[in-house]
Amino acid sequence: MLRINNKDFEVTDGLTILNVANGAGIIIPSLCHNERLSHYTSCMVCLVKDNRNGNFLPACSAFVQDGMDIDCSSEEVINLRRKAIELLLSEHRAECEAPCRVVCPGGYNIPLMNRLLSVKDFEGAIKLSSSQIQSSGLICTDCKGYCENACRRKKVDEPVSIRNMQMFIFQQIKQENVALNLHNISLHENKTKPEKSSKRFTSHIGRLEEGELKEWLKECSDEIKRVREISDSESAAMESESCMHCDCRAADNCKLRDIAEDFSMKDPRVKLVNSPIKKKINVNTGLIFENAKCIKCGLCVRLCEDSKDEPALCFINRGFVSVISEPLTEDFNNILKLKTKEVIEICPTGALSMFKPPVPLKGDFPLKGD
Ligand code: SF4
Ligand code: SF4
Ligand code: SF4
Ligand code: FES
Repeated sequence: MLRINNKDFEVTDGLTILNVANGAGIIIPSLCHNERLSHYTSCMVCLVKDNRNGNFLPACSAFVQDGMDIDCSSEEVINLRRKAIELLLSEHRAECEAPCRVVCPGGYNIPLMNRLLSVKDFEGAIKLSSSQIQSSGLICTDCKGYCENACRRKKVDEPVSIRNMQMFIFQQIKQENVALNLHNISLHENKTKPEKSSKRFTSHIGRLEEGELKEWLKECSDEIKRVREISDSESAAMESESCMHCDCRAADNCKLRDIAEDFSMKDPRVKLVNSPIKKKINVNTGLIFENAKCIKCGLCVRLCEDSKDEPALCFINRGFVSVISEPLTEDFNNILKLKTKEVIEICPTGALSMFKPPVPLKGDFPLKGD
């Protein structure tokens, strides 16, 4: 018998506190835990208190014991969890949203549109545009172009021609009449502006060093032919290749962001560890690893532990400087040909994502690893 939040539970040995709490509908947050994998206990966002002795325990890996009196929800416990999240964020140097999207009065997902266009998924681009403009029409024609003003590409040469691309796609919607019930939308009609997406937890980077800016350029095509007028799908695809993908691909699918939001946390301005902004791109599979977004939960490593068929991800170095990496003897381009999708799915942040899909992905938006 054990007690959780003043309720008694009859349990069998071998279960963790998290198992029992989950079964009883008591929510305990977790980041580094996955039922399929061995315990690792690194994030500490699942802390609970045993009132018998005043000890704090990680609920994901502490096994139940007869007589336990577990507190999951007191202010003391919540404050400790907040500290754990703060520590994770204090070495997390990344951006949830791209500057272009942050300033867009319509909150349009510009980076995702660019990714869809760059793989010539015009159907996906039309679907995305339709889902965003809803019944109020595209607002780009009357907009001052805040997105292009904020576009990070401007620091390198000139901004991505965002408005022309948006308008080109919108013309396709009108011409092809493919959008769901959008036949009557006028490009110049702008009676009610769409609401900006509600305020969410946002991780910022601030000013970037020149070297860091180059890391963003890694995702652009080497042979971009810049076009300003977007007159056809070819020019739209070509222009989209100049996008630096400043957003996080996990922005709408990130456990760290969700938990930070649940705890009403802000991104700490001062970082304990200034993690280097580095992007590794596996040119064979499209897997991207971004060190500064990794919370070292080890889920990707444990997932591949038994993988004998291919070199997988592992930890290298020790202490604060330990990072997720390809094995020292391997090239990043040679790792994880079989488990790319699985590691992306298990990663609780945007540290692992997909560059460009070999086959354009379809379906609901937004997609992680689009
Ligand atoms: S990993 Fe999560 S918290 Fe970090 S930038 Fe991406 S969405 Fe934001
Ligand atoms: S480079 Fe792309 S993602 Fe970055 S601000 Fe410009 S359009 Fe947005
Ligand atoms: S890459 Fe993702 S899954 Fe792997 S340790 Fe970092 S945060 Fe965890
Ligand atoms: S979920 Fe328990 S320590 Fe991370």
